[in-house]
Amino acid sequence: MPKAQIIDGKAIAESVRQEITNRAAKLLETSGKRPGLAVVLVGEDPASQVYVRNKDKAAEACGFHSVKHTLAADTSEDAVLALVDQLNNDPDIHGILVQLPLPGHIDESKVLRLIRPEKDVDGFHPVNVGLLTAGERDSALVPCTPAGSLVLLKRTLGDTLSGLNAVVVGRSNIVGKPMASLLLQESCTVTIAHSRTRDLPDVVRSADIVVAAVGRPEMIKGDWIKPGATVIDVGINRIPAPDLGEGKARLVGDVNFAEAAEVAGAITPVPGGVGPMTIAMLMVNTLTAARRLLD
Ligand code: GUN
Repeated sequence: MPKAQIIDGKAIAESVRQEITNRAAKLLETSGKRPGLAVVLVGEDPASQVYVRNKDKAAEACGFHSVKHTLAADTSEDAVLALVDQLNNDPDIHGILVQLPLPGHIDESKVLRLIRPEKDVDGFHPVNVGLLTAGERDSALVPCTPAGSLVLLKRTLGDTLSGLNAVVVGRSNIVGKPMASLLLQESCTVTIAHSRTRDLPDVVRSADIVVAAVGRPEMIKGDWIKPGATVIDVGINRIPAPDLGEGKARLVGDVNFAEAAEVAGAITPVPGGVGPMTIAMLMVNTLTAARRLLD
C-alpha cells in the first residue's frame, strides 16, 4: 500500500459534472436556453479525435447543445477563420474550442485570437491570459487543465493554500504559466521550473505542492519529493509496454508514481487524476460563458 493518499480525479470530475448538469437544467428552466459548445477539429490526428469525441460526449451528458465541426487536414486557414467568425456570431454557441495542434499551414495564434474572448472556453486568448495574470480570474475564462488541477489541490488540502511553496515544473502556455498565475493568486510562493533549471531535484524538494507538466515520462523521482508534499501530475505519456503484449503501450505521468507515492502526502494517478478534470472544467467554462452571454 502506498503511503500517499491517491487523489481520485475521476470521482471529483464526476461530482463537478453532476453539479454542472444540475445548473444547466436550472438555466434551461429559467431562460429556456442551453449552454452551447462548438468544438472544431482540423485533420485526423488520432489522439485529437479521441479528445474531441470525449468533449462532445461530456457536453451532451451535461445537457448542453453540442456541435462538432470536423474539417479535412488540407482545409485553408481562411476557411478555418471563416468558421470561427460564424461561431462567434452564432447566438446558440457560447463556447468555442479549436483543438490543437492545427496542421502546419494554419497560424494557430491567428485562429485563437479571432475567437471572441467571451466564448474562449480554452482560456487561450490574450484577453483571458491578461485577465488571469492581472489577478482578475473571476472575469477571465481560465485554461481547463490548470483550473482542474487547482480544484484537485483544494479538495485535497482545503480552500487555503496561502503561504505554501508551490513548484510548477513546465512553462507551457496551456499549463505551466496559467497554473503559476492561479497558485500565485492563492498566495502560494510560486517557482516555475523548466528544462534549463539548475539543480531541479533540489528545487522540487522545496515544494509543498508539485505540479508536473513537462511531458517527460517519469522524470520526477521519488527522492525529489518532500515528505508529505501534494503532487499533481499533469503528464500523459504513452510508453511501450512489451509486457502487455507486442505493440502495446501504457500511460504514465511525468512523475515516477510508485516511488513518489511512498513519500508524498497525496498524489494524482495517471490515468484517473488530472485528465478527467480537464473535460469537467471545460463544462464549467462553457456554463460560465453561457451565463455571462445570456445575462
Ligand atoms: N490540445 C491539447 N490540449 C488541448 C487543450 O487543452 N485545448 C485544445 N484546444 N487543444 C488541446
